[in-house]
Amino acid sequence: VAYRLAFIGFGTVGQGLAEILLDKREALRSQYGFEWEVVAISDITKGAVYSEKGLDLSGVLSVLQKTGRLDGYSEGIKGWDSLKTIRETNADVIIEVTFTNIETAEPALSHVKTALSLGKHVVTSNKGPAALALEELTNLAKEKGVFFKFEGAVMSGTPLISVGLNGLAGSEIQEIRGILNGTTNYILTEMEKGKTYEEALREAQRLGYAEAVPDADVEGWDALAKILILANALMKANLKVKDVEREGITKITPSDIEEARREGKRWKLIARAQREGGKVTAQVRPQALPLEDPLAQVMGVTNALTFRTDLLGGVTVIGPGAGRKETGFALLTDLLEIHRYLSHGSRS
Ligand code: HSE
Repeated sequence: VAYRLAFIGFGTVGQGLAEILLDKREALRSQYGFEWEVVAISDITKGAVYSEKGLDLSGVLSVLQKTGRLDGYSEGIKGWDSLKTIRETNADVIIEVTFTNIETAEPALSHVKTALSLGKHVVTSNKGPAALALEELTNLAKEKGVFFKFEGAVMSGTPLISVGLNGLAGSEIQEIRGILNGTTNYILTEMEKGKTYEEALREAQRLGYAEAVPDADVEGWDALAKILILANALMKANLKVKDVEREGITKITPSDIEEARREGKRWKLIARAQREGGKVTAQVRPQALPLEDPLAQVMGVTNALTFRTDLLGGVTVIGPGAGRKETGFALLTDLLEIHRYLSHGSRS
């Protein structure tokens, strides 16, 4: 049986997943036995379309490309908002890919809660719900016998949540420390090459890495949301936004960068969570790392995370932290994990 998917939000990431699903339809079926139909898409600016038998997804994408809207598609019901789409369509998996709001997590939080309460699986790359309400959402999902999956919220499709939860299961994670924001790492990299802070930031915005409001990146809010998700998901920390110390990169000057270089060091915006005396604490702050630290070698928009564990010592994962197909892929890995579990009753 095919999974019936509904997209809530249909921007870059949602469209990225849609393209991957179409490109890989046959491979997903033959290699993993994974079959899908997209029954609904609802986007606050592009409109909405629903067909209980499934939409012709490539048809919808080409209408979207031509008109900028979803409701020019010839068939189906038009105009249902996000909550009506979650409640009243026959979708069994909700793909929540609206914008991130780190203050209230809304409207994504209501989308996720509504879907889980109705016994629908949720996969999301949205940082808000996982950062602010992980415990509540995980409990709700368990109670309803469905999944709440959010691999793409941190480091896009580069596997981190699954590494922490599955790959490192049985080993205690004592510390996680990483470069979790591509925009700031790009700015620091370009400043080392001689660009000014403003030039580097503008370039990061032009390339589409930066959040809509640059403060989210340069003042460390994006990295804070991500370390919160990792600490709570992988270290059972139960931290809130206010518990995490935060400092961004706006005070780092070209002379700080030059001085670090002379000492064989490099500035990075480091997000860290560590367990000490049974308690987990977390911080986001710039640090001048010695060049032999693997994180010091990670340049440009690339992200990286080092797990310190009791049985393996340090394990470092390096990879993309954002992007259309990279984050679309994260959602696909979540869908496949749900499918693996439901079809085999195990995660391997
Ligand atoms: N603005 C974020 C970054 C995008 O620069 O890493 C991914 O969350």
